[in-house]
Order: sequence, then C-alpha cells, then structure tokens
Amino acid sequence: MRELVYYVAVSLDGYIAGPDDQVEDFLYEGDHMTAILEEFADTVPTHVAEMLGLEVSTARFGTVLMGANTYAIGLPEITSPYQHLEQIVVTHQDRREVDGVTFTSADPVELVRDLKHQEGGDIWLCGGGRLADQVIGEIDRLIVKHNPVLFGAGRPLFAPGAYDPAAFDLVRSRSFDSGVMFTEHARRRPTAA
Ligand SMILES: NC(=O)c1ccc[n+]([C@@H]2O[C@H](COP(=O)([O-])OP(=O)(O)OC[C@H]3O[C@@H](n4cnc5c(N)ncnc54)[C@H](OP(=O)(O)O)[C@@H]3O)[C@@H](O)[C@H]2O)c1
Repeated sequence: MRELVYYVAVSLDGYIAGPDDQVEDFLYEGDHMTAILEEFADTVPTHVAEMLGLEVSTARFGTVLMGANTYAIGLPEITSPYQHLEQIVVTHQDRREVDGVTFTSADPVELVRDLKHQEGGDIWLCGGGRLADQVIGEIDRLIVKHNPVLFGAGRPLFAPGAYDPAAFDLVRSRSFDSGVMFTEHARRRPTAA
C-alpha cells in the first residue's frame, strides 16, 4: 500500500509559514538544495523544473495533496503546479477540474485512505497546516527540512491539540553546510503478536 508522506519545510520554532503566510525566509540556496533536486525532484514545481532544465521525476510520488490555501499560492499564474503528478486540492468550494487539478470536498481522511489503496507512487502531503492537522493520523512518514530561522509566529507544523500522541522511528537524518537539516521519521506500527 502506498504511503502518505508529509515532506515539509519547518522553522526552528516549528512553523511551516510565518505570521503573514511567508515562506520566503526558508533557505532556497545552499547544499541542501542539491539533495532536494536529486532526491525529491518530484516535489519541484513543473514550471521550475523546466526553468532549471531538470527532468521532472515521478520516481517517488504519484499524487500530491494540497489544501486550498497552499494551492492558491501560485494563482493566478500557476494553475497546475505539479503537472507531473496527480494533483488533488481539498476545498469546500465547488470547483471544476482545471489543468489536471482535481478539487474535492471529500473528507480528507477518507480521501487519503482511498488513495492509499490505489496503484502508484506515494502520496505527497504538500500542506498546509490546516489540511495536515486533519490527516495527521494517516501520515506514515514525516520528512522535515529544518531551516535555521525563527518565525516567532505563523502556521505551526501541527496545531496543538489537533492530534493524539504517536510514536515515530528515526529513519535518517542529515545536516548540510547551509545550516538546514533533514529528518525522516516513519510511524511506529504495532508489531504483530
Ligand atoms: N513549509 C512548507 O513546506 C509549506 C508547504 C505547504 C504550505 N505551506 C504554507 O502553509 C500555508 C497554508 O496553510 P494553511 O494551513 O493556511 O492552509 P491549507 O491547509 O493549505 O488550506 C486550508 C484550506 O483548505 C480547505 N480545506 C481544508 N480542510 C478542508 C476540508 N476538510 N474540506 C474541504 N476543504 C478543506 C479550506 O479552503 P476553502 O476555503 O477553499 O474551503 C481551508 O481554508 C501557506 O502559508 C503556505 O505557504 C508551507
């Protein structure tokens, strides 16, 4: 069964975006970018990959799941940010498919459970926080890009009180000269008796 992977950038104080929704203070230059482009090329927006002359990849992910606010970041210019993936946006608004992007008001947990049973690469939970809060119980793998910045306020990785305690096992951690650190944790599953 494919996994739901939350691959996300976070400030040292645990925010995925600053108080005015800003993400510009994350580091977009440095040696961690090489790792991103090499190992997570699927998560590079299609138009950016084209600009960089990168071959878009679908090696890891088959689907990207976004909340409406995250999807809205690219609008109005970028209506289909990840054309190389199946793109699903969760919204209460009744919207028709645009440029290969599917909009749904389905319950996000049910949606993720259905997607997990389908064929294909893993499901990338792109964000943002509100969507992540709802599907946290379905997250199988958490890949966090810890950036050496403090935001002071903003959108937390997960809202306090939005979830039950859960244990994750460390799979890998890496630090870069840029000051960014990646950690990868997999949800600990009960072992069969
Ligand atoms: N650091 C990172 O790697 C990263 C990654 C992604 C995003 N971000 C940042 O996160 C921020 C956006 O996060 P966010 O928490 O504000 O928003 P979000 O999770 O992207 O989107 C929330 C919106 O999605 C819709 N929605 C959520 N749950 C729904 C449900 N159960 N049913 C139907 N619709 C639902 C609603 O919009 P409607 O009004 O359309 O119904 C809701 O307002 C931005 O600042 C973005 O830059 C950061």
